[in-house]
Formats: sequence, C-alpha cells, structure tokens
Amino acid sequence: MRPRVIVTRRWPATVEQLLSQRFDTTFNRHDTPLTSNELRAAFRDFEAVLPTVSDHLSAAVFPEAKVRTKVIANFGVGFSHIDTDAARKHGIVVTNTPGVLTDCTADIAMCLMLSVARRAGEGERQLRAGEWPGWCPTHMIGSKVSGKTLGVVGMGRIGKATARRARFGFGMDVVFYNRSKVDDEEIVAIEARQLSSLEEVLAEADFVSLHCPGGAENRQLINASRLAAMKRGAFLINTARGDVVDQNALIDALMRGEIAGAGLDVFDGEPQIPEPLKHMENVVLLPHLGSATKETRVAMGMRAVENLVAFFDGRPVPDRIV
Ligand code: 8YV
Repeated sequence: MRPRVIVTRRWPATVEQLLSQRFDTTFNRHDTPLTSNELRAAFRDFEAVLPTVSDHLSAAVFPEAKVRTKVIANFGVGFSHIDTDAARKHGIVVTNTPGVLTDCTADIAMCLMLSVARRAGEGERQLRAGEWPGWCPTHMIGSKVSGKTLGVVGMGRIGKATARRARFGFGMDVVFYNRSKVDDEEIVAIEARQLSSLEEVLAEADFVSLHCPGGAENRQLINASRLAAMKRGAFLINTARGDVVDQNALIDALMRGEIAGAGLDVFDGEPQIPEPLKHMENVVLLPHLGSATKETRVAMGMRAVENLVAFFDGRPVPDRIV
C-alpha cells in the first residue's frame, strides 16, 4: 500500500504530479490554511504531513494518542512554525528544504535594501497616483547603497549569499554577527569581518540585514535598545522571520526617526500587518516573497519529495532536522 500523504497547501503542479505518482496523496484543493482540528486529524490519518510556514504545528495539534504520522516534510527551510519537541516526542521525523532558496532569499534582501534606500515603493506610489511633479534636482532623494556598510545578523547560507551580493555586486563593506565563529577561509572569501557582538554590528552598519532563524532562541532579538543602537540613518532589512523583531519597538523607532527605514518581507503574526506600518513611506513591505520564484518553489517541492521518498525507502533522509 502506498503511504498516505497530505499536502496542506497547493504546490507547483509538477511537484503535485510527482507526489500523486509516488504516494496516495490528498491535496487541500481550497488552498486555505488548515484549522487546528484539521491538522490534528491529519496526524491521525496520514503517514506523512507536508506543511508550510502558514501551518502552526504547535504541541496542541499533535494528538495525544493514535498518531499515524511518521514524517513531516516541510516545504521551506525555516521551521519555527513546527514544535520539533512535540514531533520528537511522537517519534516523528521532520525535514526541511535548505539550500534551494538561498539565492532567491538573498536577492529579495538586496531588493528590499535598494527599494527602501532609493525610495522605489514611495516613488512608484507617487507616479501611479498621478502625483509626480516631474524631474527636478531635489526630487525624492534617497540614500546611496553602493559602498555603504552592510551588517549581517546570522551568517548561514542566506546571510553569506547576501554578503556576497553586497560585497561583490555593490562594493559594500560587510560586517557580521554570528553566534559561532565562522571559518576564516570563508570570511576571507566573502571579504567580511566577524564582530564579537551584535551591538558592534548595529553600531557600524548602514543596513542591518537579518538572516537568523525565528523561534524562541531569537524572539525579539531586535528590540527597542538594539534599534536605538543602530545608526540614525540606517535601515533594517528582515527576510528571516517576523518574530526576530519587536514590531512595536520598530514602529516606535521609525516614528521617532531613530532609524531611517525598514524593508520587511516577514511579519510577526503575518499575514496581519500592523496598521501604522502601512502608512509609513519609509518602509517597504513585501508579502513573504523570499522564495517566490518558479524555479525555487519547484526546487523546494522536489527537495521535500526527495526527503519523503528517502524516508519511505528506509534510506538516510537528506534534510532531517528531527
Ligand atoms: C518559504 C521561507 O516560502 O523557506 C522558508 O523558510 O521563509 C519561505 O521562503 C516558506 O517558509 C514556505 O514554508
């Protein structure tokens, strides 16, 4: 009998086809997030659950008994929406999709840096509203990106990819904070400097770009005092997870002009966006587009399928987290 698999959201068609060929697959045709009850039922009825960031797999959705699920193959690299301790307790293997979305997420970080510093969103809004008064030497003056200092927080795959783009594409100086020491050879290759504290990075950077995981370990890492430690003309870029930033403190810092602006692809409590952010011209807000390209979404799906196939074939699972 083919394993019963449930996919919580629509995936690229080619990947869905492959899943149907290999497994007894149930798709969520409506493509709306499953409720807690539906998720609980999924753990009772399916050998594999294939969630995304829009599914909150807290301990409460793992049923106390009769868990049929043996593997959770997450569509995405970040997995702070999954209570991995609860999964472990039920003997469920958890996998993610690292590597395949590195470039696209780093691209979106650069996109946000450029958009917010060069006032692209604001300019487009003005033009579409028919309010562009025409070219003049003082119109919508932004901040130069090339040659500035980028501070990377979390020098994993995506942090490094962003650092490379900034250094070799835009001639930026790159400083970074990472909890563990990054290999010297790698640091030399990306021409970056590892500083010993987050505060030192915040004090030097013109752009602070977050690339650390979400979840308990980094919740509100960027709080009021850390925002105050940034340069007054600096920009905060977040393509990591919304909960890494204290959103209310960010709104206050933006309102008080403590920092120059923010480029955000992720939000605490997304898709809800705090009202004040929507009214600020010096923020660029994207709807979690980091990995949203045809190529990357297919690659993410294929990677999840590879994990699943390896698991059910009894082979070592490539991207096992738990
Ligand atoms: C994904 C992401 O689209 O992979 C991640 O961690 O943040 C996104 O780019 C999303 O999480 C899919 O679950």
